[in-house]
Amino acid sequence: MNEHDSERIAADLMASGMERIDDPELADVVVVNTCCIRENADNRLYGTLGHLKSVQERHPGMQIAVAGCLAQKDRETILDRAPYVNVVFGTHNVSRSVALLEEARERSEPVVEILESPVEPEDAFAPAAPVHVDHPYSAWVTIQVGCDNTCAYCIVPQVRGPERSRPFAELVSEVEALSRRGTFEVTLLGQNVNSYGRDLALALRSDPGLDATRLAGERFASSRRSVRPLFGDLLSAVGEVEGIRRIRFISPHPKDLRDETIVAMAETEAVCEQLHLPLQSGSNSVLRRMRRGYTAERYLERLEIARQSIPDLAVTTDIIVGFPGETDVEFERTLEVVAEAHYDSTFTFIYSSRPGTEAAKLIDDEIAPEVIAERYARLKAVVDRSALECHRDRIGRKEEIVVEGVARRDPSLQQGRTRQGKVVLFAPPTTPLEPGAIAQAQIVDAGSYHLRGEVVAPPAVPRPARRLIPVATD
Ligand code: 5AD
Ligand code: SF4
Repeated sequence: MNEHDSERIAADLMASGMERIDDPELADVVVVNTCCIRENADNRLYGTLGHLKSVQERHPGMQIAVAGCLAQKDRETILDRAPYVNVVFGTHNVSRSVALLEEARERSEPVVEILESPVEPEDAFAPAAPVHVDHPYSAWVTIQVGCDNTCAYCIVPQVRGPERSRPFAELVSEVEALSRRGTFEVTLLGQNVNSYGRDLALALRSDPGLDATRLAGERFASSRRSVRPLFGDLLSAVGEVEGIRRIRFISPHPKDLRDETIVAMAETEAVCEQLHLPLQSGSNSVLRRMRRGYTAERYLERLEIARQSIPDLAVTTDIIVGFPGETDVEFERTLEVVAEAHYDSTFTFIYSSRPGTEAAKLIDDEIAPEVIAERYARLKAVVDRSALECHRDRIGRKEEIVVEGVARRDPSLQQGRTRQGKVVLFAPPTTPLEPGAIAQAQIVDAGSYHLRGEVVAPPAVPRPARRLIPVATD
């Protein structure tokens, strides 16, 4: 969500006439978009700002803006510790960057704009933005903002507010518009995507005056009695948009992963064979203390149903190590469940106490850093082994890749992404492939984090998404 916000800010600044550059030393404006989900982001912010201060001293007039949920949470601290910052704005003010920088240029003091929630619910949803402003083939589409869950460790509900779904018909028309502009891959974003539509259905039931076609889409406009549209309905509708060939989404919550969603994934050709299903812990007692609303057994059962329904499904997850009070036995249960789930990749996080959360009160139960480090290493060994096995299993297969550009880890290579979301590194042909090109790659080697491939078929030109329409002139 934060990366998406960063690209939206970049797109607005570019639309106002700025050019994007990588080197802060040469920039007239630097926007630091922050995230407060874990504490190390706090520490990194002040280090980054300290560095930018010296750049600003050498380059008078350079503007520094701090955006995002950490800016929202710590506005006073930022102004105290870094009074040279020119603009501070929050997650509900993402679309205001250009105006705020302008205002700060005219005033000699910092401009701060932080809304606790959007003024109008509609303002919560800025238009979809390309994943990279320069490459419109892939776009993020926010389908829902905020979160109504109460995970004991998580600060997101505080900073992103209650859950709101974007009207169904608006989303579908936005994807249609993206496709006309050349987008063929969309990633649907929300904190808890499979509860998409719940608030829309409730609003429709309680207020018959609302525009049902806009909120629920034409197909479900008359189903005011049932809870529709569902997330699965959205997957099917986006899958029907001409030109959309890859649909991804993050993140579903295991407690809400309904059969309907799994069926829609299986039946919608464009939905990629990829599921990110955050486990957090494999221990039922820790899951209960985390208030996650499922047990390990129920999680594994949902996962099994998804795997049986969707052939070749890649599964990834998030795990938190060292939740307060986590015992050795509880941690070992996580190792067992992780091994059983056999993930393609895992994001592992060290528990970080966040102010205002329920878990932040459990100071006496916090786990010693050396115990956490040891558990983290043991978990890493299990997840790396499982990822390597999943990746080795791809060797010898031919996979469709969408080219992303130069490989991040080795500039002599290019990288592309498979439908399962795996990165494939390959030697570029004489003329390197353009980002957004679709090619076939033979997988020849695998590591825990990526695949190696050889491009075996010339890149297909993606089916033109832009239709040529004769224009009458008089
Ligand atoms: N400490 C550590 N990890 C956290 N996450 C969320 N909050 C915390 C926290 N306080 C992790 C969860 C979530 C991912 C986005 O970040 O695993 O799924
Ligand atoms: Fe945080 Fe839980 Fe909501 Fe995810 S579902 S954003 S972990 S409160």
